[in-house]
Amino acid sequence: MILIIHAHPYPSRSRATHALLQAALTLPDVTVHSLYERYPDFDIDIAAEQAALSRAALTVWLHPLYWYSVPGMMKHYFDKVLALGWAYGGKNDGSGGGRALHGKHCLWVPSTGGDSEAYSTHGIHEHEFANFVKPMEMTARFCGMFWQPPFAVHGAHVISDDELSTKADAFKSRLQDWLNVHRATFVSLEKAS
Ligand SMILES: Cc1cc2nc3c(=O)[nH]c(=O)nc-3n(C[C@H](O)[C@H](O)[C@H](O)COP(=O)(O)O)c2cc1C
Repeated sequence: MILIIHAHPYPSRSRATHALLQAALTLPDVTVHSLYERYPDFDIDIAAEQAALSRAALTVWLHPLYWYSVPGMMKHYFDKVLALGWAYGGKNDGSGGGRALHGKHCLWVPSTGGDSEAYSTHGIHEHEFANFVKPMEMTARFCGMFWQPPFAVHGAHVISDDELSTKADAFKSRLQDWLNVHRATFVSLEKAS
């Protein structure tokens, strides 16, 4: 039901992303694909990843923010897995594929080194964090997915253990709430198809 695409090049050194992942793993109906562990040579199994996306109703992109974007492996995953004729494209009349992800939901979950002060017009990043969201949002929406409001952990290096634990609980609740609202709809759609 929920597929977490997790990309962290050094998971054993991760604090923020690790805490969120552990919280999510306590829920039922959650599958995790940790890209750096599955594909240490970057040789992504495209068919397997597309099949996992087809089974999921909600896809979560979970990773540390690198250069206002995704770690290299996740970008490679987008390039290979969200393929023309499968995730987007096709003919003008709507036929010819490219609709595999239509109607599914997408939630972006980045952790950032910058705190909320850093992501303000007078902070080091000069812009509100909302200004860095659009490329991710459009990646999902271009594939016909419903974009959910992102869940970000800012100040990943300075956030206290207690605050991080509260954030992880909030992330778990966010997923649980999504399951409560959408599980029945997606299960009945699956039965009908
Ligand atoms: C190569 C690299 C690029 C980074 N770029 C950004 C950035 O653009 N904005 C930001 O706020 N933090 C940036 N950071 C900080 C990471 O987002 C931060 O270390 C991470 O969110 C911490 O999460 P973790 O505990 O799961 O590793 C960068 C870190 C690295 C190593």
